[in-house]
Amino acid sequence: MLSVLLVDDERSMRDFLKILLKKEGFDVRTAGDGTQALEMLAERGADLVLSDIRMPGMNGIELLEQVKGLYPGLPMVMVTAFSSPDDAVQAMHNGAFDYISKPFNVNELKSVIHAAINSGNGYTEEPSTPVTSFSGIIGQSREMQKIFDMIRRVSPTPANVLIYGESGTGKELIAKAIHANSRAAENNFVPINCSAIPEDLMESELFGHVKGSFTGAISDKAGLFQEADHGTAFLDEIGELTPMIQTKLLRVLQEREIKPVGGTKATKLNIRIVAATNKILEDEIREGRFREDLFYRLAVVPLRIPPLRERKGDVPLLVNYFLEKYSRQLNKDIQEISSYAMQVLMNYDFPGNVRELENIIERGVALENSNIILPESLSFHGRVTHNKVPVRKSKSGKLQFLTEVIHYRHAATSDTPEVATASSETSGIENPFTAPRFSLPGETASLLQIASSEQELYNIGIEQALAALEKRLIGHAIEKTNSKMKAAELLKMSFRSLRYKAKKYGIN
Ligand SMILES: Nc1ncnc2c1ncn2[C@@H]1O[C@H](COP(=O)(O)OP(=O)(O)OP(=O)(O)O)[C@@H](O)[C@H]1O
Ligand SMILES: [Mg+2]
Repeated sequence: MLSVLLVDDERSMRDFLKILLKKEGFDVRTAGDGTQALEMLAERGADLVLSDIRMPGMNGIELLEQVKGLYPGLPMVMVTAFSSPDDAVQAMHNGAFDYISKPFNVNELKSVIHAAINSGNGYTEEPSTPVTSFSGIIGQSREMQKIFDMIRRVSPTPANVLIYGESGTGKELIAKAIHANSRAAENNFVPINCSAIPEDLMESELFGHVKGSFTGAISDKAGLFQEADHGTAFLDEIGELTPMIQTKLLRVLQEREIKPVGGTKATKLNIRIVAATNKILEDEIREGRFREDLFYRLAVVPLRIPPLRERKGDVPLLVNYFLEKYSRQLNKDIQEISSYAMQVLMNYDFPGNVRELENIIERGVALENSNIILPESLSFHGRVTHNKVPVRKSKSGKLQFLTEVIHYRHAATSDTPEVATASSETSGIENPFTAPRFSLPGETASLLQIASSEQELYNIGIEQALAALEKRLIGHAIEKTNSKMKAAELLKMSFRSLRYKAKKYGIN
């Protein structure tokens, strides 16, 4: 049964909501303040937290912050007073799934709650504190906790493991972790990329050959399987194996012995196989491209690694991990990422998964001139849709972004030769703030700079600051492209609205 934790200091409100949600079929528990709520979450978790904002002691916003840090996948809906819309803005800004204002409409409440529960990963099952890294694999999300647990359980057994996952999700890292935690850890881990070896060489590569068995076989040669004996063979991209090799591999797995090409004598082998694929092998079987009997031999334990977009709670942890790694490697002193840049990453869906995030951070560290990663230094291979970028969502988000850029840019020096070279490498890769044509960091900085200090920005005020930025960006884009049509495209706004605004700001 899905469970909801209700947090409100008013008894009557708790009772009312409890009855209502029980009728909806939820298991409902209640807490009178934030501290009590955290204790209850640690004890048994929940699938949704519904919390009042104004409460004595730890208030709802503070509770929200704690919950987001401890249980990133757990959705939280806030109850706000109709008279204080600022609370709602702040709650949304701090990561609430949604809010409802008192006095509320019961139907609206129900629909928000169902939507929130469907969006999240509740925490009901495992309230133990999450581990943040396991054998070099970083992750704190519930999904990764399950994977750590599976690795822990399956590694010491001889069972073959089949790892499924999109490209860049960490399949090889996980295969290595299985080996490192197995009884064969002292012996070899042999990665074999099934798609990289040509079919006619595959058999000899895997099982070895004897001298003279084919042209070029000038001496006996052991195969990769012999090398992996008493250890682990990692068969990467197993979905690419040809039918002939599939059949041979099946025989090896059944009989636990191999015969080298051209040889007559079979040798006994003791190998643990970990295979990986980004294909859905069940589909391949249905289409007749993959042997079902081989599949069952390989997938004794199947392990699915979810794409990064399904476990965004791991993003901050991975960012810090890679920041430290590349800061060290590139000899730079960057230990921080601006909160706005982090928000941009949280809103990106990472088609290339962890590998892509790693590349983004590596490039960011290389490009960044100040000692903190700013949004401008992030570049993306995939598309970043502007409406996903939180700057448009709330005024406080916009203000935060501007303040950050101004604050850090002010301290940083731009236009060093180092930056110029690095930026030329990234041309063609999209940055949500600096479309390719704005790729010179110095130019970008001056474009975004609308006040010379944080104080000045606050004096100007948000409306005027945003208008100034808009005017500058539109003017610049028109100048660059020499066409209002193209400028509109560049800025991802409609032509009509660009034309209107250009006129309003007196830009020709
Ligand atoms: N959870 C993680 N923690 C730390 N690093 C990770 C994690 N997942 C992936 N990486 C890093 O991301 C990169 C890609 O990982 P890996 O090669 O294991 O992915 P893969 O699933 O095998 O990808 P492909 O299908 O493209 O071969 C590596 O540099 C790896 O170290
Ligand atoms: Mg791989």
